Amino acid sequence: MSTDVVLTGITTTGTPHLGNYVGAIRPTVAASHDTGMQSFYFLADYHALVKNQDPERLRQSSLEVAASWLALGLDTEQAVFYRQSDIPEIPELTWILSSITAKGLMNRAHAYKAAVTENEEAGGHDPDKGITMGLFGYPVLMTADILMFRATKVPVGRDQKQHVEMARDIAQRFNHIYGDTFALPEAVIDDNTALLSGLDGRKMSKSYNNTIPLFAPSKKLRKLIMKIKTNSLEPGEPKDTEASTVFDIYRAIATSEETAVMQRKFAEGVGWGDTKQELFEYLDAHLSGPRDEYDRLMANPGQVESILQSGAQRAREIAGPFMRKVRTAVGIRALG
Ligand code: TRP
Repeated sequence: MSTDVVLTGITTTGTPHLGNYVGAIRPTVAASHDTGMQSFYFLADYHALVKNQDPERLRQSSLEVAASWLALGLDTEQAVFYRQSDIPEIPELTWILSSITAKGLMNRAHAYKAAVTENEEAGGHDPDKGITMGLFGYPVLMTADILMFRATKVPVGRDQKQHVEMARDIAQRFNHIYGDTFALPEAVIDDNTALLSGLDGRKMSKSYNNTIPLFAPSKKLRKLIMKIKTNSLEPGEPKDTEASTVFDIYRAIATSEETAVMQRKFAEGVGWGDTKQELFEYLDAHLSGPRDEYDRLMANPGQVESILQSGAQRAREIAGPFMRKVRTAVGIRALG
C-alpha cells in the first residue's frame, strides 16, 4: 500500500487572517509533523498573479504567507515547503495539460462562471469583459501543482473542491491518452474548520473585507474584535451561541473544555463586551509567541528566502525527473 501524498497551496494575494489560520495554516502545520506521510506546502504566487497586479503587494504577501507558516511551526524538514514560481516545471506541465483539457470543462468552473454572470448582470455586450486567460486557465495551473507531486489528498476550502475534481478529470484523460502517469487526487474538506465568520458575520474573506489579520499587533487585534457584529441583547439575557461570530471564532481556537465554559456563559447571559474581551485575551495569549517569531522573520526576509530556496531544490529533485517522463510520454523526446 502506498502512503498518501498531501499537497496544498495558499494564494499570495493578501495578509493571512484568522480564517486562513484555522482553515489552512493550522491543519497543515499539524500534518507537517506527521512522519507517516509525505507532504508538500507552497506559496501559489502564479495563481496570485491572476488577481494581483501590484508587484510590491505580491512580494509582500509572499513574505507574509511564508513567515506565517514558519512562525506557526511548519516542519520544513518533513514537509517540502516551496514557492510555486521557483519550480519552472509547473508552468511547463500546465501547457502540456492545457493541450488535453477541454475548453468546455473550464467553461464550467465556478469562478469563471461567476465572472461571466456578473458581466451579464451588468448588462454589457461582452460576457468575458475583464476576464483574463489566467483566470480562465486557473484550474489547469492548479492541476499541474497537484499532479506534479502525485498528490492523492488535497486539503482545500469548499470553494476549491471543484478545481480538485477537475484535476482528477484531467489526470484521467492524460492517463487514458498517454498511459498511466498521474496519481488521481481527491479533495479533503474539513467541515468543522473550513468556514470561519468574519467581523460582519459573513464568511471571513479578503473579498468581503471583514478579516482579522492573524498577526495584528495586540492593540489592533483588540480594536477589531470589539467591532465584531452582535445582536442587541443586553447583559443578563441568555445568548445563542449558534448565530454568534464571537463564539464561532472562540470555538475555532479554544479547546473543547474552554468552549463548553464559554457556552455556559452565553446561556447565563454574559454581556457582549465581556465575551469580546475574553476572546481578545484568549487570541492574544495564544498568538503572542508565534507573533514574535513572525515579526522576527518579517524583519529577516533573507532567512525566509533561503528556507524557500532549499524547499525549491527538494521540489525540483522530484519535478525535474518527473517532467522528463511526462515529456517522453507525450512524444517530446530526443530524435536520435
Ligand atoms: N487556488 C487555491 C486557493 O485559492 C490555492 C492553490 C493553488 C491550491 N494551487 C493549489 C490549493 C493546489 C491546493 C492545491 O485556495
